[in-house]
Amino acid sequence: MNTVSLIRISSYYGCIAKFNSNPAGDRMTVSLPKLLVPALAALLAVAAPLPANAQAQQPEAHPPLYLGAAWYPEQWPESRWDADLTLMEQAHIRFVRVGEFAWSTMEPTEGDYQWEWLDHAIADAAHHHIYVVLGTPTAAPPAWLTTKYPETLRIGEDGRRDQHGNRQQFDWANPKYREFARDIAERMAKRYGHNPNVIGWQIDNEYARESYGPEDQKQFDEWCHQHYKTLDNLNTRWTTAYWSQTYTDWSQIPIEEKYGNPGLLLSWKHFVSDTWRSYQKNQLDVIRANADPSQFITTNMMGWFDGYDHYTVSQDLDLASWDDYVGEGHLDPYRNGAAHDLTRGFLRKNFWVMETQPGFVNWAPVNTPLDKGEVRAMAWHDIGHGADAVEYWQWRSALNGQEELHGTLVGADGTPVPLYSEVKQIGAEFAKAGPVLAGTSVHSEVAILHSYDSRWAINWQRHNKNFDPITQIVSYYKPLRQVAQSVDIVQPTVDLSQYKLVVAPGLEVITEAAAKNLIAYVQNGGHLVLGQRTGMKNEDNGLWPQREPGPLADLLGGRVDQFYAIDDKPGDTVPVTGLWGATTSKIWAEQLSTSSPDTQVLMRYGKSNGWLDGQPAAITRKVGKGQITYIGAWMDDAAMLNAARWMAKTSGVTPAFGPVPDGVDVYPREGNGKKVFILVNFNKAPQTVKLPSTMHAVLSGKDESTVTLNHYGVAVLQAK
Ligand code: GLA
Repeated sequence: MNTVSLIRISSYYGCIAKFNSNPAGDRMTVSLPKLLVPALAALLAVAAPLPANAQAQQPEAHPPLYLGAAWYPEQWPESRWDADLTLMEQAHIRFVRVGEFAWSTMEPTEGDYQWEWLDHAIADAAHHHIYVVLGTPTAAPPAWLTTKYPETLRIGEDGRRDQHGNRQQFDWANPKYREFARDIAERMAKRYGHNPNVIGWQIDNEYARESYGPEDQKQFDEWCHQHYKTLDNLNTRWTTAYWSQTYTDWSQIPIEEKYGNPGLLLSWKHFVSDTWRSYQKNQLDVIRANADPSQFITTNMMGWFDGYDHYTVSQDLDLASWDDYVGEGHLDPYRNGAAHDLTRGFLRKNFWVMETQPGFVNWAPVNTPLDKGEVRAMAWHDIGHGADAVEYWQWRSALNGQEELHGTLVGADGTPVPLYSEVKQIGAEFAKAGPVLAGTSVHSEVAILHSYDSRWAINWQRHNKNFDPITQIVSYYKPLRQVAQSVDIVQPTVDLSQYKLVVAPGLEVITEAAAKNLIAYVQNGGHLVLGQRTGMKNEDNGLWPQREPGPLADLLGGRVDQFYAIDDKPGDTVPVTGLWGATTSKIWAEQLSTSSPDTQVLMRYGKSNGWLDGQPAAITRKVGKGQITYIGAWMDDAAMLNAARWMAKTSGVTPAFGPVPDGVDVYPREGNGKKVFILVNFNKAPQTVKLPSTMHAVLSGKDESTVTLNHYGVAVLQAK
């Protein structure tokens, strides 16, 4: 520790320590004039006991856009840190996330807390103008803990207890584990809660693995009791007479993940969501009680991941953040963009990309790299969708450990990999464009409605294996984004009055509260468009007796008479023609009918299976100043684009920017009296965009009326 601390102190107090880099990189040696050593040792003796707060150097103003890296100082000798932080600083990295897997370094044996290394890491980062997000280390409990308290280990669906050696091996509902988790979080918060270089907290890491042991089972049964109050109520709402499932005691209710009663499945997911929320709150409460309110609290979520209801878990956080990985292949700006918009919708404000791949990952079937320029394009795509930070996972691989081959910014020798210079460019651009984007966020005229209940309900009974709810959402999102150039994704119970158009692609589960909200939206003059399978189920994942769209059928003046899974074999798709052109319905087709004379038919099926022949495929009805539309066919991109244009026109939605060539993405952000547009060209060929007015091109520093963008080219334009 001494040599290590010497280096820290020398850089901390502005002394000159000359680092001799060697091929091992991490094993840097320090050559100090001999006479200086005793002086520094004396300094060390005085400086080491300083509390963490006093050691931290006050960094300058917070950057509006943060570039970051996941840094694991505990994996390296302290003598290496300054070299890493220097390289980070040179790349304009302004924050590191630290600590989220470091429990065995923080508390090597029970009750023996070691914070000096973390004090030093935070102080050293400050010295390099780098802020810190502290991760609580609870996703990776240390071996002494799980050995001494084996009840804290999770039990898998197969009934087997996890072992040590991987991560996420804890039981998220176990009271003993929660005690430990709260204790370590509280100690961290007490020590760093007022450290000016710590800007925020990440609780745990990517909640994902539930436990299925007797303790979890007991808590689930109690949850059911609390939620349903009486067994009669539960039995009725789950229709447990079916297959003799009737329960006569709460303890009889099993855990089912896939093939259980639909009411049981949904209840389990709600329990899982509530349990992750309370798991998080257990730590969040002690952090909040001890930390300065300026330090945000977040957790890193996972985009489209549906292991729990992210709205439930987000509600206690200050900031939503997610880990944005492409994995194999290239960035799909729509599917990925929708995941950004989804995350922005958790708290309905800007969010952070807490992790993203520096080129490639290590866990996809083929870990292909993003192209040269694509990482930069992706970073700006993130910011465009409302991210205020982009953090690369990770700075450097540990020399051993499960993720040795993952992309990094620094190689095993401790020197930059080729991508480093691209990230450095991103950092320089964030620094330049940050002041322009400060105080701006995404504002949309169009909202897409999304619920986990609906995605789960569809996935449990897809009816057609190809009916992927995310693909369905994106089939609406993509054309709507092309037309409106900005879309929000929100849950169906939020206040929708700000939107001109609200689209529910596959809201299979509609609760009474959601139905009331949607009816009010239409009655107040909004245009509500419902996609296939919407309004089929109630809050218990049971069928609404009205048939689709359930409680909205009266307002629609129409309904789904029958739904049909459509095979993808040639000749099995169903022709559809009408207002949006001639197309086919694939995967799914719903035979609609109208019950009200003012409900109009927009699209009809052609000759196919006999049942659908000539029947309505899309219908609409004006209700006062509002309108409600139902689309029962799964149409191709061209027809969906026509449908989106029609939706926009009938609702008064206008494009946020104006015409751009296909493959050029536009991301509007506004606020503080500013309007900013980020443009990214995903086409291989250069594209020229005529701007709607002369704008200030922030990255080039010039005023422009047209911009030409190369492949993955980016422009950040401020309207005058
Ligand atoms: C996740 C985790 C990280 C790391 C990366 C690798 O997002 O949070 O710890 O394992 O994946 O891609």
